[in-house]
Formats: sequence, structure tokens, C-alpha cells
Amino acid sequence: MSGRPLHLVILGRQGSGKGTQCVNLVGHSGTLHVSTGDMLRAAVADGTELGKKAEAIMNAGGLVSDETMNGVVAERLAKHDIKEHGVLLDGFPRTVVQAEALERIVGKRGIDAAINLDVPVSVVTERMLARGGSDDTAEAIARRLSLYDEQTAPLIDWFDDRGVLVTVDGLGTEEEVFARLRSVIDARA
Ligand code: AP5
Ligand code: MG
Repeated sequence: MSGRPLHLVILGRQGSGKGTQCVNLVGHSGTLHVSTGDMLRAAVADGTELGKKAEAIMNAGGLVSDETMNGVVAERLAKHDIKEHGVLLDGFPRTVVQAEALERIVGKRGIDAAINLDVPVSVVTERMLARGGSDDTAEAIARRLSLYDEQTAPLIDWFDDRGVLVTVDGLGTEEEVFARLRSVIDARA
């Protein structure tokens, strides 16, 4: 790989396998995985101000405010390691306001690809029910998925308008999905 390191975004419904595939993808692309969900869970575990703000919202299946999330991500992307290795953003942007903030940080041509990991509602619902976490009740799952349709799905067109959207079929085994994602990355590296 030469020149500027890759800046990638992964979009997809809750339970589409973003976190699972990001572990594979960072190994393959050399980028750093920045998951806002993981950052928020760490903040909750550490009892920081951010964690105190986020905990109840996350448990209720809501979204932490754009202002808070834009600040968290701006601070993370400013670090030297990202400039050196690039980034795979997971869970951010989640709203158009967040996407606009990202564009201000990285520039108009700053994102090399936005990957939409596509898995239908019926399948993600089954996966999350099977995972059975404390917030994986049928009701909380439905709430998170309807917020996704309302707030996050518009980003599919937003990235498409900028010419960087790639939709990848997220059905199949973890290895099958990874093989599809690998070829998307290889085409851009
Ligand atoms: P976040 O952590 O981002 O969660 P999410 O994207 O909502 O959903 P998941 O992480 O559960 O799904 P995933 O796509 O990563 O799938 P996974 O690989 O785990 O956010 C958590 C919360 O933080 C939000 O609700 C919000 O409150 C807050 N937040 C975070 N970012 C924010 C932002 N930018 N703005 C505002 N608020 C924010 O896989 C799911 C399951 O499927 C697993 O059990 C896995 O083993 C299984 N699986 C994976 N791949 C396959 C496969 N191919 N076949 C079968 N099963 C599979
Ligand atoms: Mg995740």
C-alpha cells in the first residue's frame, strides 16, 4: 500500500456482523478499528463522565447525542496513530449530522469507502435474540432497528452521492462474508 492510509466506514444494522468482521478487516487492511460502541462501553465500565452520560441511553436502545459523539470521534481521529495507519470506523457516523462532522474532519475526499454490510431485519433479529444479552429483548431490538431505519439508513444514500458506497451481502458464514469484504479492500489498497 502506498500514500495515504485507508479511511473506511462500515455501516449496517445492529447485529449485521460489523464488530465481528472489523476484527478480521483490521488484520487485513492494516487500519485501526475505532468502534464508538466499544468506546462507550469502556467509558461506562470506567465510570467516566462520558460513561455516566451514555449508560442509560445505551440501555434504552437510544442514541447518544451527536454533539457528544462528534467530540469523541474528533478527538480520537486527531491522534497520530490514525494518521499513520488509517481507520476503520464502526458505529460512526450514525446520523447525517455525524457524517457531516466526519466530512469536516477528514475532508471531502477523506473517506475511501463506506461499506454497507447488508443483512435483512429478520436475520439480524434472530442473531440478536440468539446472543441473548441483557439488552437483547425483542422490544429493545425492535426499537434499535427502527432508529436505524430513521437515523442511519439515510447515510446509505449520503455516501452513495459521494461515490464511495459499496454494498456487501452480509448473509452467509463469517468466512464467506470476510472474503467479500477482503476483495472490496483489495480493490482500494
Ligand atoms: P454498537 O456497539 O455500535 O452496536 P450496534 O452496531 O448497534 O450493534 P452490534 O454491535 O450489536 O452489532 P454488530 O453489527 O457489530 O454485529 P456483531 O459483530 O456484534 O452501539 C451500541 C450503542 O452505543 C448504540 O445502541 C448507541 O446507544 C451507542 N452508540 C454507539 N455509537 C454511537 C453513535 N455514533 N452515535 C450515537 N450513539 C452511539 O454480530 C452480532 C451477532 O451476530 C453476534 O452474536 C455474532 O456472533 C453473530 N454473527 C456475526 N456474523 C455472523 C454470520 N456471518 N452468521 C451468523 N452469525 C453472525
Ligand atoms: Mg458492534
